[in-house]
Amino acid sequence: MTADDEPAAAGGTAPTAAEVGAAPAPTTTTATTTATNRTSTAPATTVATPATPLATARVGTWLLHLRGRLILALLAAVVVAVGAGTVAHLVEVSARLERDLAAQGGRVTGAIRTDLEQTATALDEELGSAADPRAGVARLLSSGRVEDRFLGAHARLTMGRLEVLKILQRDGTILTSGHWPASFGALDPLIAAYVATGGRLPRIVDEATPQGSAPALERWAVLRSGGREVLVVAGRFLDGSALERLRARTGADLLALCPAAPPARRGAESPECLSVRTPELLPDRAFRADDDAFAARLRLDVFDVGGFRLFIGLDRSGIDTVRRGIVVRAVVVGVLAVVFAVVLGAALAARIVRPIESLADAARALAGGDLSTRVPPGHETGEVRELVDAFNRMAADLEQGQRRLLQAERVAAWQEIARGLAHELKNPLTPILSAMTVVRRARELQRADFDAILTEQSKAVVEEVMRLKELADAFARFARLPEQRPEPLRLDDLVDQVLALYVPADLVAVDRGWPTGDARLPEVVADKNQLQTALANLVKNAVEAMETLEPGAARLRAGLAVVASAAGGVVELTIDDSGPGIAPEVAGRLFTPYVTTKGSRGTGLGLALVHRIVAEHGGSIEAGRSPVLAGARFAVRLPLRPPPTPTEQGSMPSAPSVSTTP
Ligand SMILES: Nc1ncnc2c1ncn2[C@@H]1O[C@H](COP(=O)(O)OP(=O)(O)OP(=O)(O)O)[C@@H](O)[C@H]1O
Ligand SMILES: [Mg+2]
Repeated sequence: MTADDEPAAAGGTAPTAAEVGAAPAPTTTTATTTATNRTSTAPATTVATPATPLATARVGTWLLHLRGRLILALLAAVVVAVGAGTVAHLVEVSARLERDLAAQGGRVTGAIRTDLEQTATALDEELGSAADPRAGVARLLSSGRVEDRFLGAHARLTMGRLEVLKILQRDGTILTSGHWPASFGALDPLIAAYVATGGRLPRIVDEATPQGSAPALERWAVLRSGGREVLVVAGRFLDGSALERLRARTGADLLALCPAAPPARRGAESPECLSVRTPELLPDRAFRADDDAFAARLRLDVFDVGGFRLFIGLDRSGIDTVRRGIVVRAVVVGVLAVVFAVVLGAALAARIVRPIESLADAARALAGGDLSTRVPPGHETGEVRELVDAFNRMAADLEQGQRRLLQAERVAAWQEIARGLAHELKNPLTPILSAMTVVRRARELQRADFDAILTEQSKAVVEEVMRLKELADAFARFARLPEQRPEPLRLDDLVDQVLALYVPADLVAVDRGWPTGDARLPEVVADKNQLQTALANLVKNAVEAMETLEPGAARLRAGLAVVASAAGGVVELTIDDSGPGIAPEVAGRLFTPYVTTKGSRGTGLGLALVHRIVAEHGGSIEAGRSPVLAGARFAVRLPLRPPPTPTEQGSMPSAPSVSTTP
C-alpha cells in the first residue's frame, strides 16, 4: 500500500510519534552502543541527581544498619560486663571492709572494757575490805584512830594513787574528802539516794570538785572504824587527758562520755559530752550522739557505764575511700573498654559489613543495567564469601545471557534485512522472466513483429535490471557507510541546499522556520555528506508523501532551533509536511530496513540510513504528527559536537528496535 492510497491517514488515526532516539538502528556495534549512551544522557542525569539525599538517608539510618548495630551491641555488652563486675566487686569489698571494721570495733571495745575493769580492780585493792583489813584504806581505818583530821591526812597521803577519796557516814554526810577537803559535813546526794535504795554505786559518776563536777570511775566499800561503819569511796577522774590516754592506748578514733540520762544536778554550763578524737576526725564539730555527721563517718559502739554512756568510734572513711577508688577504676576501665569495643566493632563491621555493602552497591549497579559489575574479592570468609561468589556467578551468567541475546538479536536483524532484500530482489526478477518468456515464445512462433516485441521487452528488462542495480546501490550505501569526516558547518546553509535540490519549487510551497543568516544558529561539527544524505531522504519522503495533493495544497516547512539540553548545546531540525501523515501499519517500524509503503518505487532503506547517520553523530530522531501542517513531522536532534565514535564498518548491526510513543 502506498502513501498515495491512504490520504486519510493524516487524520487522528495516524501515529503521533515514534520515538527512536535511543533505539539502535542496524549499524556497527561500537557506534550504536556509544550513540545509544549519548542519546540517553538526559535520563541518566536525572537518575544521578538523587545521590545526595540518598547519601543523607544512609547516614541517617546508619544506626539501623548492621555496622551501627554491631558496635552498639558490643558497647552494650562491655557496659553491662564492666557495670556488673564493678557492682559485684564493690559489694564484696564493702562487706569485707565492714566485717574488718566490726572486728576492729569489737577489739577496741574489749580493750576499753578491760582497761576500765583493771582500773576498778586497782581501786578495789586500794580500798581493801572489812574482811581483809590488812590492805589499803581499810588498814588505816582499822588502826582504831577514827578521827576526821587524821583520816583526812591519810586520805591525802593516799592521793598519789587515788584521785577521789571520800569517807562518808551511811546517811551520805561527808566525814572527810581527799580531793575536796572543804566538803566535809556536806551531804553527797548520790550516795544518800543510793544507800537509801540499798543498791550498788554506779561505776562512773559525776564527781563534785572545787572546780565543778567531772566524771570519775569510782568504787566504794563499807568499812569499820572504831566500832562504827563508814562508807569509803575511791576513784579516778575520767577527764579529757585520761580519756585521751585511753583512746591512744586502745586505738579508737573517738571516745565520748555522755550522761546516760538528762543531767539533773549538773550545771547548765557543763558540756553535753566529753569527747576526744583523732585530729582529722570532724575537727570543727562537737560530738553529739544524735549528730548524723558522726553517724555517717564513724562505726559507733556504745555501752553503759553507770550514769554515763561511753561511745567508741572507729573512722569508716577508709571504706568510702576504697569504694571511691573502685568506682574510679571502674570508670577508667569502662572508658577503655568502650574505646576498645568501638574499635573492635568497627574492625568486625569492616570485615562483615564491607563485603555486604559492596554487594548492595553491585546489586544496585546490576539493577541499573551494568552487567559487567562484580564484587572484588576481599578477605571475607564463610557465608559472606559464598554470598559474594554466588553474586559474581549470577552477574557473570546474566552478562553472558545478555551477550547471547544481543547476538541472537543481531542475527535476527540481519535475517530480517536479508528477507527484505530477497523480497526486493524478487520483484524485478518476475518481469525479467516474463519478458524473456515472451521473447522466446515470439521467436518460436516466428512472429512478424518479433523485432518490435524484442525491443519492447528488452526495454522492460533493462528497466528492471536498473532497478536491481539501484537496490544493490542502496544496500551498499546502507551497509557500508564511509568513515565520518566531521567539519564545522552551518546547518541552515545545508538545509537550504537540500531544499533547493529536492523540492520542486512549482509544486511545493517551502517555509523556512528561521530568518536568513540567523546569527543565533551556531555551527555544528558533523560529516557534511552524511548529513546531506539524511536531510535529502527526509525531504524526499515529504515530497513523495505530498505527490497526490491538489496543486497548492503541498506545503513543506523546515525548522531549525537551538534547544536546551543537560548535556550541552543541541540543535533541533524539523521537517513538517502537509501530506497524509505516517501510515499506521509502518508507524512502529519506520526505521527498520525494507519497511516501505511505496511498493517497488521505494526500497525502505531511506529512514534506516537516516537513523544510522543521526545515531553515529550522537543524535536522535523522532517521527510523529506535524502540529503545524497536519502531516508528518520528523525531528532530528544533533549535539553541536559529535562524540568521538570509531566506526566499525561491515560488522553485524544490532536489531533495529523502535519504540512508538502514542
Ligand atoms: N513524510 C512522510 N509522510 C508519510 N509517510 C512517510 C513519510 N516519510 C516516510 N514515510 C513512510 O515511511 C516509509 C519508509 O520510508 P523510507 O524513506 O525508509 O523508505 P521509502 O521512502 O519507502 O523508500 P526509499 O527511501 O528507498 O525511496 C515510507 O514508505 C512511508 O510509508
Ligand atoms: Mg524514502
